[in-house]
Amino acid sequence: MAKGIFIVLDGLDGSGKSTIAKMLHDYIYSKEGYNALLTSEPTDGKYGREIRKMLAEEKNPKENAGKMLELFVNDRREHLRDTIIPFLKGKNKGKNAVICDRYYYSTIAFQSTQGIDANKIIGKNRDFLKPDIAFIMDITPEIALDRIEHRKKEKFEQLEFMKELRENFLRMKEMIDDNIKIIDASKSNREVFEQIKEEIDKIL
Ligand code: TYD
Repeated sequence: MAKGIFIVLDGLDGSGKSTIAKMLHDYIYSKEGYNALLTSEPTDGKYGREIRKMLAEEKNPKENAGKMLELFVNDRREHLRDTIIPFLKGKNKGKNAVICDRYYYSTIAFQSTQGIDANKIIGKNRDFLKPDIAFIMDITPEIALDRIEHRKKEKFEQLEFMKELRENFLRMKEMIDDNIKIIDASKSNREVFEQIKEEIDKIL
């Protein structure tokens, strides 16, 4: 059975990861013989919709940590079963790539910043598919907030919370034994993408 390539982009809101994820998708899709799918979490499924409602309506970032942890894990289980794994296993000689905008690194970083023990979160995500490579887009919370200034702030988009969150993202390599690359996301999209492309070319 073809294995496929599973790539994750993660990091703070405002780190530019969604733009980079699109560029990466287009890059892989344009390569001879490759098929690529761009997807994201939270999804538009039943758990994802419940999450988005909470993100838009709630003001206190530390509130409802346990409930959110459960929702994100349930959402991920569905996402893997219905979307990610079927695409990776599709017929194309293993040249199927999924680019996922956020994954369990977000759960580890965000929900531990909300106050849940990181090892408990890791335990709940233990059986999920390990990405072949994950990029954590690193940026200061000040720059990130500046970039999202024009839109309404969601639950987690507050300076103090984001400072703690960034530290947790930067500690990710110590918390979990995955192939993680920390990327300086304060540079231009082109420069950030070049760094990522270099790593991707090694595994394609
Ligand atoms: P996202 O869709 O990236 O936000 P936006 O639509 O504003 O670009 O993610 C929604 C929020 O959910 C974001 O603040 C990160 C958070 N989140 C978690 O707290 N845990 C998780 O497991 C995931 C996937 C996201």
